[in-house]
Amino acid sequence: MVSVATLPEEKTVESRRGEVLRIAVIPGDGTGPEVVAEALKVLDAVAKLENIQYETKHFDYGGEYYLRTGEVLPEGALEELGKFPAILLGAIGHPKVPPGILERGLLLAIRFHFDQYINLRPVKLYPGVETPLAGKGPEDIDFVVVRENTEDLYCGMGGFFRKGTPYEVATQIAIYTRKGCERCIRWAFEYTRKRNKKRKLTLVAKTNVLTYGHDLWWRTFQEVAREYPDIQTDYNHVDACCMWMVKNPEQYDVIVTTNMFGDIITDLAAIIQGGMGVAAGANINPEPGGTSMFEPMGGSAPKYTGLGVINPIACIAALAMLLEHCGYPRAAERVQKAIQIVTGTKMKSQAAGKMGYTTSQVGDLVVEALGAV
Ligand code: IPM
Ligand code: MN
Repeated sequence: MVSVATLPEEKTVESRRGEVLRIAVIPGDGTGPEVVAEALKVLDAVAKLENIQYETKHFDYGGEYYLRTGEVLPEGALEELGKFPAILLGAIGHPKVPPGILERGLLLAIRFHFDQYINLRPVKLYPGVETPLAGKGPEDIDFVVVRENTEDLYCGMGGFFRKGTPYEVATQIAIYTRKGCERCIRWAFEYTRKRNKKRKLTLVAKTNVLTYGHDLWWRTFQEVAREYPDIQTDYNHVDACCMWMVKNPEQYDVIVTTNMFGDIITDLAAIIQGGMGVAAGANINPEPGGTSMFEPMGGSAPKYTGLGVINPIACIAALAMLLEHCGYPRAAERVQKAIQIVTGTKMKSQAAGKMGYTTSQVGDLVVEALGAV
């Protein structure tokens, strides 16, 4: 049995007094810097209100850096980032950099190097936000996906044989380990208990086809479940999950799933909560001293870059997750509430260019709302 993955310790603001929250900031490409600027504006405001001491250090990694230097991350970069408990990442993706280079060299490199084995993606329809699901409102769309973040097809194993010939063979290997799935499943049970809503955890996999890897997940899920008799468990095949998520999203409380399926279903989940403008995620290493990374789920959106039209709410929500994880739950809650005031009473839409405000005005509105919560 693996050691119990602990949830971030519940530290009160009082107990944090005197400590300095250190954040590595990677604004990244495209609209990344624009949304990060608003999240940092909100951080500054909430830090004053909650008496939080913080420090940020910027790293200019991303597409431009790669084109300039020929490397995605320089020697020693990961060691340097490892000195921080939290990284705030804007976005990566550059039209002049072929797909895969920045994803593998930066985003996945950080997730793997720091063993950020939990990818936490809350799916919450904020007040005033439009969902494409007819007849569903904020009370129906409020669940969390816990995506395993270090195994599966993402391990990068595989290769070519007879490449470029008519007989070419390509393999792409999915790995699943007992330790890897158990620590994720256990964390998800703990999280479901702590969330204390429906106290229901749904495993999403494909046991009818992936009869080895997902059998391991299934057996591990059943075993760990016995330690959590207070948590109701359920199982959905991933294809059925896509259907239920659209038809009856209210049936979900917490979902735990594998890396690849988690990637796919969280894009579906993001759209039912109002789109990439609002969806945020955390890549968490729950162990003491771990480095975790927080990011808006949307990409670098090159076509909106520099126009001041991109929605910063997702990045501000990522900041709230960072604060929560780092032991500032009251500040996190305050940012969450301020976001909901702004989506509920001010913004016309969550789509880029249709918000009724510029990127920086949305940041200002959140700061203003912070004062009222
Ligand atoms: C995500 C993204 C990444 C992933 C890409 C950019 C590698 O889609 O964070 O969901 O597949 O995990
Ligand atoms: Mn994705």
